[in-house]
Amino acid sequence: MSAVPLATGAAAASTPARVALLGTGTVGSAVLAKLAEWAGTPRGRRLSLVYAANSRAAMHAEAGLCARAAQSLALMPAGQLLRGIGGSTCASDLDDIERHLGFADTRILIDATASDRVAARHPEWLAQGIHVVTACKLGQGTSLARWRAIRTGAARGGACYGDSATVGAGLPLLRSIRDLQAGGDRIHAIAGVLSGSLAWLFNHYDGLRPFSGFVREARDAGYTEPDPREDLSGEDVRRKLLILARSAGVELDSGAVEVESLVPTALAGLPLGHVDAALSRLDASLRERFAAARKGGAKLRFIARLEGSGARVGLESLPDAHPLAGGAGTDNRIAIWSDRYREQPLVIQGPGAGAEVTAAALLDDVLRIVGRRPDL
Ligand SMILES: NC(=O)c1ccc[n+]([C@@H]2O[C@H](COP(=O)([O-])OP(=O)(O)OC[C@H]3O[C@@H](n4cnc5c(N)ncnc54)[C@H](OP(=O)(O)O)[C@@H]3O)[C@@H](O)[C@H]2O)c1
Repeated sequence: MSAVPLATGAAAASTPARVALLGTGTVGSAVLAKLAEWAGTPRGRRLSLVYAANSRAAMHAEAGLCARAAQSLALMPAGQLLRGIGGSTCASDLDDIERHLGFADTRILIDATASDRVAARHPEWLAQGIHVVTACKLGQGTSLARWRAIRTGAARGGACYGDSATVGAGLPLLRSIRDLQAGGDRIHAIAGVLSGSLAWLFNHYDGLRPFSGFVREARDAGYTEPDPREDLSGEDVRRKLLILARSAGVELDSGAVEVESLVPTALAGLPLGHVDAALSRLDASLRERFAAARKGGAKLRFIARLEGSGARVGLESLPDAHPLAGGAGTDNRIAIWSDRYREQPLVIQGPGAGAEVTAAALLDDVLRIVGRRPDL
C-alpha cells in the first residue's frame, strides 16, 4: 500500500535520501550487506544510511554511516559503545527517529524488525513525512484501526508506505493487485500458499514417515521459526491474507479470518523446551488427512483464501490439476481471479521467504521512493 504511489524514475544524484534501519537480524543484516556492496556506486550515492539500530544498540552518524561497520551491530552486546567509526551509540530510540534522520527532502525508515512497538509507530512517522518501508506484517496485518492509521498518516505526511516485503518477500503480489485495480479490474478472489515453511512441509510430506519428522527437518534447515508452532498455527498466514485482502479493497477486520491451526491444544500450551518431544502429537490426524486426500487423488496444501468478503486459512485437499497444487520447495504460489482473469487465474509463484529476496524487496521499495525525486 502506498498513499502516495511509488513510482519509478531516476537521474543523477544530488542530496542523498537519508535512511534509518531498524533491525539487524536475518533481513536487516542482508540489507546492510547490500548497502555495503553499493557503496561508491551511483545507486549507493542516492542513499545515506544515518541511523541503524537493533533492540540492544544503535549507531548514528550525521554524515552517514559505513554500512559495513553497521553490520557489527548484530554482534554487539547490549549497552556497548562503539567508537572511532564515525558514529555514536545509544539505545534503540523510537521516540527520536525524526531527529536521527535530520533534515532532508527524502527521509526513509526501513523496518526490518518483527516488533509490534515499532509497527505501532508507522502511522506517526508517515505523518511526519518519513517514508516507511517494512518487512514486518504487524503494520498492515493486524487491526483494521492500525491499517487505517497507516493510510491516514501517509496521506497527511505525503509519505509512501513500502510493503512489498511483507507478503511473498517481494514477489510482485501486492503490486499486481494494485495495478489490476488501477486499470479498472475488480478482484473476485485470491487464494494461495503464502508460507514458505508450510509449503515445504506439504511439498515433502509423503504420509509414510511421521509429519513431526518433517517439521524437525524444516526447523533445522531454518524454514520454520525456532518455535514451529508459530508457522503451524496459521497466524503468520492470517496476517498475510489480511494484507492481501485489504490491498484488494476488502477491509477485513483482523478477527474476520477463520483460521484452522494445525497445532493441537495439548501442544499449544507447552513451554518451548517441551515442544520437540511432543511434536508427534501432530502425526495421527495429519496421516489420516493425507490418506483421505490421496484416496481422492488430491494433495494437501495449506491455503489462504479470500472469496467475496469471506476469508479462511487452513489445510485443503486440492486436485492435482488445481493451480495451487503445484510448486516446489518453499515456493509461494498465489492465484488471483478478477474480471480479466475470470476462468484461468493469474498465478504468481516464486521464493516467498529468505533474507536476500526480502532485503532486495525492501531496497526496491526504497529506490522507488527515491526515484520519485527527479534529482536523486
Ligand atoms: N526472514 C525472512 O525470510 C523474512 C521474510 C519476509 C519477511 N520477514 C519479516 O522481516 C522481519 C525481520 O525478520 P528477521 O528474520 O530478520 O528477524 P530477526 O532475525 O529476529 O531480526 C529482528 C531484528 O529486529 C530487532 N529489533 C527488535 N525490536 C527492535 C526495536 N524496538 N528497535 C530496533 N530493532 C529491534 C532485533 O534486535 P536484536 O538483534 O537486538 O534482537 C533483530 O535485530 C520480520 O517482521 C519478519 O516477519 C522475514
